[in-house]
Formats: sequence, C-alpha cells, structure tokens
Amino acid sequence: MNNLPSPHPIIELPDELVSQIAAGEVVERPASVVRELVDNALDAGASQIVLRLIEGGVRLISVEDDGLGMAPQDLSMALRRHATSKIRNLRDLESVATMGFRGEALAAIASVSELSLLSRTAQAEHATLLDARSGEMRPMARSRGTTVEVRELFYSTPARRQFLKSTATELAHCIESVRRHALSRPDVGFEIWHEGKLIEQWRATGEAGLDRRLADVLGEDFLAESVAVDFMAGAVRVTGRAGLPDHARSRADHQYAYVNGRFVRDKVIMHGVRSAYEDVLHGQRQPVYVISIELDPMRVDVNVHPTKIEVRFRDGREIHQGVRYAIEQSLAAPRTGQTQPVDPWPASEAWASGRAPNAGTGGLAAPMPSTPPGAWRQQRMPMGQAVNDLRALWGQVPDPSATSRSDPATPSDAKILPSALAQLASEALGAEDQPLGQALAQLHGVYILAQNHQGLVLIDMHAAHERIVYERLKQGVAQRIDSQNLLVPVTFAATETEVALAQEHQDTLLTLGLDIGPLGVRSLAVRSVPASLADSDVVALARSVLDELAQWPASTVLERAQNELLATMACHAAVRANRALTLGEMNALLRQMEATERADQCNHGRPTWRMLSMKELDALFMRGR
Ligand SMILES: Nc1ncnc2c1ncn2[C@@H]1O[C@H](COP(=O)(O)OP(=O)(O)O)[C@@H](O)[C@H]1O
Ligand SMILES: [Mg+2]
Repeated sequence: MNNLPSPHPIIELPDELVSQIAAGEVVERPASVVRELVDNALDAGASQIVLRLIEGGVRLISVEDDGLGMAPQDLSMALRRHATSKIRNLRDLESVATMGFRGEALAAIASVSELSLLSRTAQAEHATLLDARSGEMRPMARSRGTTVEVRELFYSTPARRQFLKSTATELAHCIESVRRHALSRPDVGFEIWHEGKLIEQWRATGEAGLDRRLADVLGEDFLAESVAVDFMAGAVRVTGRAGLPDHARSRADHQYAYVNGRFVRDKVIMHGVRSAYEDVLHGQRQPVYVISIELDPMRVDVNVHPTKIEVRFRDGREIHQGVRYAIEQSLAAPRTGQTQPVDPWPASEAWASGRAPNAGTGGLAAPMPSTPPGAWRQQRMPMGQAVNDLRALWGQVPDPSATSRSDPATPSDAKILPSALAQLASEALGAEDQPLGQALAQLHGVYILAQNHQGLVLIDMHAAHERIVYERLKQGVAQRIDSQNLLVPVTFAATETEVALAQEHQDTLLTLGLDIGPLGVRSLAVRSVPASLADSDVVALARSVLDELAQWPASTVLERAQNELLATMACHAAVRANRALTLGEMNALLRQMEATERADQCNHGRPTWRMLSMKELDALFMRGR
C-alpha cells in the first residue's frame, strides 16, 4: 500500500500560462487576432480602421484606428487578464452593447506573440508606446487613436504555428474577418494592406449607407440579385438583403448574420433562413444573405462562447419565425424597389451591327421568383432590367435530336427577371388576354407553346404542374398525411434521448404519419410511416425526424417535414414529360398557374415559363420595325 506514489501538490498556474491556455480558445489563427483588434477599434469609436499584414498575418498584424485611444496609465492595464473598460458589473454584462467585455483578448494575444500598443487620447500631448514583453513605455508621435502591432504570432508555441495554413489562406481568413465587420458598419471606413499593397478599401458611406457598402464588399451585382428585407415582429427587427433563389451558390460562403451588430453563426438563424428558402431552393444550393437582427440585449446571451460567435436567445422560436417570415415575405413581394423603366428593345440594330444583345439592351422576359396570388392583377410594375443574352435562349430552343429534359438549368437560362410576370399581367389587363395567353401546341412532350398579346410564351409543363400540385397539397390536404402500417414493425437501437423524444412528441409524430414507440430503455419500434415514404429507409427517416425534434420547436418540424413529404408527392403527381395534353388541358394548366402562389418557379427554383415578345422575335429575324 505505502509504495503508491503520493499525489502532486495543487498549485496555482502562473499568469502567463493561464493566458496561453486562454489564447488557445480565443486565438486560433491570424484572422482571430484581426477580429479581436477590429472589435476593439470599433468599441473605441473609430471611424477609420487600417489593417496591415505581412505573410498573411503570421509575421505582422497591425490595426490602426482613430478612436478614443487609451491614457498612458491604462496601457499596461489593457494587457492584464480580465481587465476591461467595458463592463463594471453583472447588470452591464446582461445588456452589453460593445463587441468586447471579457477583457481577455489583448492578454491572450500578448501571451503568444510580440505585442505593442501605441495610443493617444484627445487630452494627451503625445502618444505612448508600450512594449508588452519588456513593459517599457516611451513617448511617440501619433494623432489620436490606437495602433496595436502583433508580431510573430505563436512564436512561443510552435505546435500551434504548425497548424497555420499557407499565406494565401491565412490572408483570405483575415480579409473575411474584416468583411464581417464591414458589412455591419457602413459608417466606418476600412483598408487592408498586405506586404505594402492596398488590397481592399471600403470607404465609409454616408447617405448611401448599407446598400453602398454591400455592393462594395460583395460586388455590384449583389443588389440586383437580392431583395431588401425589413421586418418587425414584436420586439425583434430583421433587416438586410436576401439573395434571389437563382443566385444561390454551391457553397455557404456568402451568409452573414448579425445579432445587435455582432457577426454570429447561429443554428436558429441559419435554420430560419433555410426554411424561408425551402420552397424555392434546391436542397444543396446555398442562399446568399446579409441579415441583421436587432432585439433587446436582455433577450440574448452573448457570453456563451469565448469568441462570441455563438449566442443564446431567450426565445429561439421568436427569432426563428422572425427570420423566416422576414425573408419569405421579401422573396414573395413584387420588387418595385430595384426595377427600371422599360428599355425599348434596340436589338435589331445590335444584331445588324453584328453585336449580340447583352445585359441592359433587352432580352427575354422571364418570371420573377414569386408572385402572390392576386398581385398579377393588382400590380402595375415597370419592366425589370432585361438581362438575358438572346443566344442563351437560342441554345435552349429544343433541337429535335438533342432534347434533354433533365439538363440542369444553365446559369443564364436560370436568370430570373424581377417583376416580369407582374409586368406581363398588368399589360394583359387591357387586352382580351390572360397573362400566359392561349395554348397553341405542345413541343416534344415537354413545353407548351402559347401566345399572348405580346408574343410567344413557353411553359415547362412538368415544372409548372409540380408547383401547382404542391401548393394545393400544402393548402388543403396538408393537415392529414396518410400513413401506412408496416407489416412487421421495424425496431432499432436508440439512445435514451431518442426514446424520450419519441414518447414526448408522440402526437406530433402521429400527425406526420409516423408511429414510433419505445420497446425498451434503449430501443424503438416504427409501426407506421407516411404511405408515400413506405419504401424509404424507415430507420433513417425515424432518426432524422427525432433529431429534428431534438433541435427545433415541434411546430417547425411538423411544417418542414410535411413540406418535404408534399414536395416528393407533388413531383410524382405532376404530369410527366412526354404526356400528350389536349389544348383544353394545356389552357387549364395555364389558368391554374395564373392563380397559384409562387407559380413562377418549380419546387427546385427553376423557372416555369419564359416569354419571347414580338419585338424579340422580330429582332431574331432582323425584321425592320
Ligand atoms: N483600439 C483600442 N482603442 C482604445 N482602447 C482599447 C483598444 N483596444 C483595447 N482597448 C482597451 O483595452 C481593454 C482590453 O481590451 P481587450 O483585451 O480586447 O478586452 P475587451 O475588449 O473585452 O475589454 C479594453 O477594454 C479597452 O479599454
Ligand atoms: Mg476586445
């Protein structure tokens, strides 16, 4: 017994080591340092922030601001752990309005780099430089504000340094970090320099405000390819811009969400956005958005993560629904804001001179992503800016030998013009004409050709019908999903949590057509599933539904699951390609489209119809006008 070693005595860790441990959480790479330093500059009221980097930030990160600065006696204090000027007590913490409040960033960064602070307040006669390592202070010249220099990041912790990626990658992360700040602070100017070269410059915007900044940071096209979001529900306000479905991306790289000005990655928000796009976006596509959520700081806890990128809402459901409705409504509303006056089609000249018509010179009318029912007859809207290259359509006109139904939409073919459908509808008002016109014929069992008073309308009949069936299912039968009993219940090993969830949400599950019950402490049995999904992997289905239940309020799961089921059903129920339709059937389909919400796009976000006006046809044939 007494040859067992005695336990080590307990000691308090030295400050330096504590900071290095904290740095592990706060400082992952140069971009994390950039984020913390820019946060500090913004908290100090800066109006201009200049970032200078060498080797992607590994050799040097310098952030210069024109904020309030620090008094000389505060400089060394700023480097102490848990030292902050931003909160004083718990109440301050609960309603914190600054980016920082934990007082640990500078201490953590200083423990893994060579850091210096140079700062001057309005009252001081000169600036003061503090070298963190030596503690030495000396006077220097500088105007009001602060410069923080961070050199040789992770020099003392080579293990960390090894995890850094190439200069280009680290630089990209640093830029992204500033971009996140810039998108929520159009009133502040930003510059990024890398190895002596100016690589980004976003000027502070005055009147033009957020839109200008969004265009500067995300590209001029972003405004035309997105709709404004502005929504207030209770005490929650959601503003910003949401990308049109056909400008979605394959990567989730242009998704910016802010809570009270702070960039966050939050599951509730992301899920809210996702559900807003659910009906108009193909599953794998990623919408582009910049949205800002403002609410009483007491209703959100920002102190749940060392880097504050995660937050916890007091009422997640309120946020989820707010975000969802805000975006859904913006996508569904006719967009008057960004449309331009009718551009008469000058393409005849363009063709004659050998120049193909391009953006801005005219093009094909195409549906806007979504039109609320009734809007067709109520809205009179200016013609959207025409964007399609006529030749894109030319390539698209089916060639008898090469018609392919399943080709995914090409980018130009998927271009959706805002307001075109509403425009078409308003112009049809005077005429004896329905917006989508009268059917003439069916082309290769795929398209319906129709004529309205403006010209030729082409309709993808399967896509259009699918949408109609889907919207109908949603409206009517959605309440009851037919379920089918399994001949032999499928049992599977489950976790205690899954078993508990199945019991707790039994009613919800039954509404979804799922009968899942406990067999024991650690196993579940599926006794029935929705009839339309009887052939699917029952266990996977049950698990994913339970997983959803664990994460989201039961009501949203229900709605989502229903919509997914309905979409599957709609696709099967819709007329398939190559089915011959009579003129009567075709006309009936056109009339249904006119009366259906979101009829402009199929459930996968592709357009359901397009129009070639007489002018455009004339131009194709170089017919003088
Ligand atoms: N750029 C700056 N301008 C003025 N004061 C600053 C600046 N950066 C840091 N400080 C001061 O140093 C303190 C510590 O900064 P930091 O370690 O990032 O903690 P926090 O931001 O959480 O307070 C801040 O509270 C602030 O008073
Ligand atoms: Mg800070």
